[in-house]
Amino acid sequence: VPVAVLISGGGSNMAALIEAARAPDCPYRVALALSNRPDARGLERARALGVNAEAIDHRPFGKDREAHEREIDGRLRAHGVEVVALAGYMRVLTPWLCERWSGRMLNIHPSLLPRHPGLDTHARAIAAGDAEAGCTVHLVTAGVDEGPILAQSRVPILAGDTAEALAARVLEAEHSLYPSALAAFVSRLSDQG
Ligand code: GRF
Repeated sequence: VPVAVLISGGGSNMAALIEAARAPDCPYRVALALSNRPDARGLERARALGVNAEAIDHRPFGKDREAHEREIDGRLRAHGVEVVALAGYMRVLTPWLCERWSGRMLNIHPSLLPRHPGLDTHARAIAAGDAEAGCTVHLVTAGVDEGPILAQSRVPILAGDTAEALAARVLEAEHSLYPSALAAFVSRLSDQG
Protein backbone atom coordinates (compact mmCIF):
# COMPACT_ATOMS: atom_id res chain seq x y z
CA VAL A 1 0.00 0.00 0.00
CA PRO A 2 1.55 3.33 -1.06
CA VAL A 3 2.00 5.73 1.87
CA ALA A 4 3.03 9.40 1.92
CA VAL A 5 4.89 10.80 4.90
CA LEU A 6 4.37 14.50 5.64
CA ILE A 7 7.19 16.27 7.43
CA SER A 8 8.31 19.75 8.45
CA GLY A 9 11.75 19.10 9.93
CA GLY A 10 14.41 16.46 10.43
CA GLY A 11 12.23 13.51 9.48
CA SER A 12 13.62 10.94 11.91
CA ASN A 13 10.19 9.29 12.15
CA MET A 14 9.95 9.34 8.37
CA ALA A 15 13.36 7.65 8.14
CA ALA A 16 12.21 4.96 10.58
CA LEU A 17 9.09 4.35 8.46
CA ILE A 18 11.20 4.10 5.29
CA GLU A 19 13.72 1.74 6.88
CA ALA A 20 10.94 -0.52 8.18
CA ALA A 21 9.39 -0.63 4.70
CA ARG A 22 12.50 -2.43 3.48
CA ALA A 23 11.38 -5.60 5.25
CA PRO A 24 10.05 -7.98 2.60
CA ASP A 25 6.83 -8.59 4.52
CA CYS A 26 6.12 -4.91 5.20
CA PRO A 27 2.55 -4.20 3.95
CA TYR A 28 3.27 -0.55 3.10
CA ARG A 29 5.83 1.31 1.01
CA VAL A 30 6.72 4.99 1.32
CA ALA A 31 5.84 6.39 -2.11
CA LEU A 32 6.43 10.05 -1.24
CA ALA A 33 7.89 12.36 1.37
CA LEU A 34 6.21 15.77 1.32
CA SER A 35 7.08 18.85 3.34
CA ASN A 36 5.51 22.27 3.80
CA ARG A 37 9.04 23.63 4.14
CA PRO A 38 11.42 23.49 1.13
CA ASP A 39 14.39 23.59 3.56
CA ALA A 40 13.25 20.62 5.66
CA ARG A 41 16.31 18.43 6.25
CA GLY A 42 14.07 15.39 6.04
CA LEU A 43 13.66 15.92 2.28
CA GLU A 44 17.35 15.24 1.67
CA ARG A 45 17.14 12.33 4.08
CA ALA A 46 14.28 10.80 2.07
CA ARG A 47 16.16 11.19 -1.21
CA ALA A 48 19.24 9.57 0.33
CA LEU A 49 16.97 6.64 1.22
CA GLY A 50 15.69 6.45 -2.36
CA VAL A 51 12.28 8.00 -1.71
CA ASN A 52 10.71 10.71 -3.86
CA ALA A 53 10.74 13.92 -1.81
CA GLU A 54 8.87 17.13 -2.65
CA ALA A 55 7.97 20.39 -0.93
CA ILE A 56 4.86 22.52 -1.19
CA ASP A 57 5.79 25.71 0.63
CA HIS A 58 2.85 26.92 2.69
CA ARG A 59 4.02 30.53 2.82
CA PRO A 60 2.83 31.64 -0.68
CA PHE A 61 -0.70 30.62 0.37
CA GLY A 62 -0.74 33.07 3.27
CA LYS A 63 -3.75 32.47 5.49
CA ASP A 64 -5.52 30.27 2.92
CA ARG A 65 -4.68 26.93 4.57
CA GLU A 66 -7.26 25.11 2.50
CA ALA A 67 -5.67 26.23 -0.80
CA HIS A 68 -2.34 24.89 0.44
CA GLU A 69 -4.01 21.62 1.41
CA ARG A 70 -5.68 21.28 -1.99
CA GLU A 71 -2.18 21.37 -3.51
CA ILE A 72 -1.04 18.72 -1.07
CA ASP A 73 -4.10 16.59 -1.77
CA GLY A 74 -3.54 16.82 -5.53
CA ARG A 75 0.09 15.74 -5.14
CA LEU A 76 -0.90 12.81 -2.91
CA ARG A 77 -3.46 11.59 -5.42
CA ALA A 78 -1.05 12.11 -8.32
CA HIS A 79 1.29 9.66 -6.58
CA GLY A 80 -1.50 7.15 -5.95
CA VAL A 81 -1.09 7.52 -2.21
CA GLU A 82 -3.67 5.58 -0.13
CA VAL A 83 -2.54 6.37 3.42
CA VAL A 84 -0.94 9.53 4.85
CA ALA A 85 1.41 9.44 7.84
CA LEU A 86 2.07 12.80 9.51
CA ALA A 87 5.52 12.70 11.11
CA GLY A 88 6.75 15.87 12.71
CA TYR A 89 4.37 17.79 10.45
CA MET A 90 3.95 21.12 12.20
CA ARG A 91 0.89 22.62 10.48
CA VAL A 92 -2.63 22.38 11.85
CA LEU A 93 -4.81 20.82 9.16
CA THR A 94 -8.20 22.24 8.23
CA PRO A 95 -11.30 20.03 8.46
CA TRP A 96 -11.19 19.90 4.65
CA LEU A 97 -8.08 17.71 4.41
CA CYS A 98 -9.05 15.74 7.51
CA GLU A 99 -12.38 14.88 5.84
CA ARG A 100 -10.72 14.04 2.51
CA TRP A 101 -8.42 11.56 4.27
CA SER A 102 -10.75 10.54 7.08
CA GLY A 103 -9.81 7.11 8.34
CA ARG A 104 -6.65 7.08 6.20
CA MET A 105 -4.43 9.69 7.87
CA LEU A 106 -2.29 8.91 10.92
CA ASN A 107 -0.18 11.06 13.22
CA ILE A 108 2.37 10.43 15.91
CA HIS A 109 2.26 12.65 18.97
CA PRO A 110 4.99 12.67 21.65
CA SER A 111 2.77 12.12 24.69
CA LEU A 112 0.41 9.52 26.15
CA LEU A 113 -2.78 11.07 24.75
CA PRO A 114 -5.22 12.21 25.97
CA ARG A 115 -2.65 13.66 28.37
CA HIS A 116 -0.62 16.61 27.03
CA PRO A 117 -2.06 17.35 23.56
CA GLY A 118 -0.31 20.24 21.79
CA LEU A 119 3.28 21.37 22.13
CA ASP A 120 6.07 21.11 24.73
CA THR A 121 4.74 17.76 25.87
CA HIS A 122 7.92 16.62 27.64
CA ALA A 123 8.38 19.74 29.75
CA ARG A 124 4.69 19.55 30.68
CA ALA A 125 4.88 15.88 31.68
CA ILE A 126 7.87 16.60 33.92
CA ALA A 127 6.24 19.71 35.39
CA ALA A 128 3.07 17.72 36.10
CA GLY A 129 5.09 15.17 38.03
CA ASP A 130 4.01 12.35 35.73
CA ALA A 131 5.71 9.02 36.42
CA GLU A 132 5.81 8.21 32.74
CA ALA A 133 5.63 9.76 29.29
CA GLY A 134 5.43 8.23 25.84
CA CYS A 135 4.02 8.55 22.37
CA THR A 136 0.73 7.91 20.60
CA VAL A 137 -0.19 6.97 17.05
CA HIS A 138 -3.73 8.09 16.29
CA LEU A 139 -6.10 8.65 13.39
CA VAL A 140 -6.23 12.32 12.41
CA THR A 141 -9.51 14.16 12.91
CA ALA A 142 -10.28 17.87 12.68
CA GLY A 143 -9.58 18.32 16.39
CA VAL A 144 -5.83 18.57 17.03
CA ASP A 145 -4.36 15.43 18.70
CA GLU A 146 -7.89 14.07 19.34
CA GLY A 147 -8.48 11.18 16.92
CA PRO A 148 -8.98 7.49 17.82
CA ILE A 149 -5.82 6.04 19.35
CA LEU A 150 -4.21 3.19 17.39
CA ALA A 151 -1.14 2.48 19.54
CA GLN A 152 0.89 3.87 22.43
CA SER A 153 4.33 3.31 23.88
CA ARG A 154 5.15 4.18 27.50
CA VAL A 155 8.50 5.62 28.61
CA PRO A 156 9.54 6.14 32.25
CA ILE A 157 10.33 9.67 33.44
CA LEU A 158 13.56 9.39 35.41
CA ALA A 159 14.60 11.51 38.39
CA GLY A 160 16.38 14.62 37.16
CA ASP A 161 15.11 14.17 33.63
CA THR A 162 15.38 17.29 31.49
CA ALA A 163 12.84 17.84 28.71
CA GLU A 164 15.64 17.20 26.19
CA ALA A 165 16.64 13.88 27.77
CA LEU A 166 13.02 12.75 27.92
CA ALA A 167 12.39 13.91 24.34
CA ALA A 168 15.29 11.80 23.09
CA ARG A 169 14.02 8.75 24.98
CA VAL A 170 10.48 9.24 23.64
CA LEU A 171 11.74 9.81 20.10
CA GLU A 172 13.46 6.42 20.21
CA ALA A 173 10.15 4.88 21.24
CA GLU A 174 8.41 6.71 18.37
CA HIS A 175 10.82 5.16 15.88
CA SER A 176 9.68 1.70 16.97
CA LEU A 177 6.01 2.46 17.53
CA TYR A 178 5.17 4.22 14.28
CA PRO A 179 6.39 1.56 11.81
CA SER A 180 4.61 -1.22 13.70
CA ALA A 181 1.41 0.80 14.15
CA LEU A 182 1.37 1.84 10.47
CA ALA A 183 2.01 -1.75 9.30
CA ALA A 184 -0.80 -3.06 11.52
CA PHE A 185 -3.13 -0.31 10.30
CA VAL A 186 -2.37 -0.99 6.62
CA SER A 187 -2.80 -4.74 7.12
CA ARG A 188 -6.25 -4.17 8.58
CA LEU A 189 -7.12 -1.97 5.58
CA SER A 190 -6.12 -4.75 3.22
CA ASP A 191 -8.17 -7.28 5.20
CA GLN A 192 -11.19 -5.00 4.87
CA GLY A 193 -10.63 -5.05 1.10
C1 GRF B 1 9.59 15.22 17.40
O1 GRF B 1 9.41 16.07 18.51
C2 GRF B 1 8.64 14.06 17.51
O2 GRF B 1 8.40 13.75 18.87
C3 GRF B 1 7.38 14.58 16.88
O3 GRF B 1 7.81 15.47 15.85
C4 GRF B 1 9.12 15.97 16.17
C5 GRF B 1 10.06 15.83 15.02
O4 GRF B 1 10.12 14.49 14.65
N1 GRF B 1 6.60 13.50 16.35
P1 GRF B 1 10.95 14.02 13.31
O5 GRF B 1 12.36 13.78 13.76
O6 GRF B 1 10.86 15.16 12.31
O7 GRF B 1 10.26 12.77 12.88
